[in-house]
Amino acid sequence: MSTSARTGVPVELPTAADTEALGERLADGLGAGDLVVLSGPLGAGKTVLVRGIARGLGVAGAVTSPTFVIAREHRPLPGGAGVPLVHVDAYRLGFATDVAAELDDLDLDTDLDSAVVVVEWGEGVAERLAARHLLVRLDRRDDDVREATVERVEGPR
Ligand SMILES: Nc1ncnc2c1ncn2[C@@H]1O[C@H](COP(=O)(O)OP(=O)(O)OP(=O)(O)O)[C@@H](O)[C@H]1O
Ligand SMILES: [Mg+2]
Repeated sequence: MSTSARTGVPVELPTAADTEALGERLADGLGAGDLVVLSGPLGAGKTVLVRGIARGLGVAGAVTSPTFVIAREHRPLPGGAGVPLVHVDAYRLGFATDVAAELDDLDLDTDLDSAVVVVEWGEGVAERLAARHLLVRLDRRDDDVREATVERVEGPR
C-alpha cells in the first residue's frame, strides 16, 4: 500500500475534480486486502474521493451516497486493476458497532480479503477490519476549500 500523496501533509482540494483526482492517485497504490478509512464531516467529499478510487481501480457501477445500504460492491472491469471495490458507509452504524460483524451479516458476494475496502465515517469503527490501513481525513475549511491529509497507519493505536 503506497501513495503518491505525501503522507501527513495536507493537500488542498479546491474543486471536486481535485478530490476525485486524489482518489484516482491513491488507487494506484491499493490492492487486494487493503483498507481505506475516510473521516471528515458531512459533505466533506468522502464519496467524491471514493468515486476517484473507483475510477483509478477501474471498477463497474456508479459510486453514490448509499442512503439505505451500508455497503456496495463494485466488480472489476476489463482493463482495470482487477480488484473489486467494496464501498461502506458507516454513518448509520453506531460508534460501538462491530463493522466486521455487520459486513459479515450482509453476506456480500465479495471476499473482503480480495477487495479494496473503503469505509466512509470509518474512523474509530473500521480499524478493527485491519490494523494496517490508509487513513484519509477530509476537512472543509471556512472558505469551502477541502483539505485532505493521508496517513498510513501500521498498527493498533
Ligand atoms: N473540493 C471538493 N471536494 C469534494 N467535493 C466538493 C468539493 N467542492 C465542492 N464539493 C461538493 O461537495 C459535495 C461533497 O459531497 P460528498 O457526498 O462527497 O461528501 P461526503 O463527505 O461523502 O458526505 P456524507 O458525509 O454525507 O457522506 C459534492 O456535492 C461535491 O460536488
Ligand atoms: Mg458520503
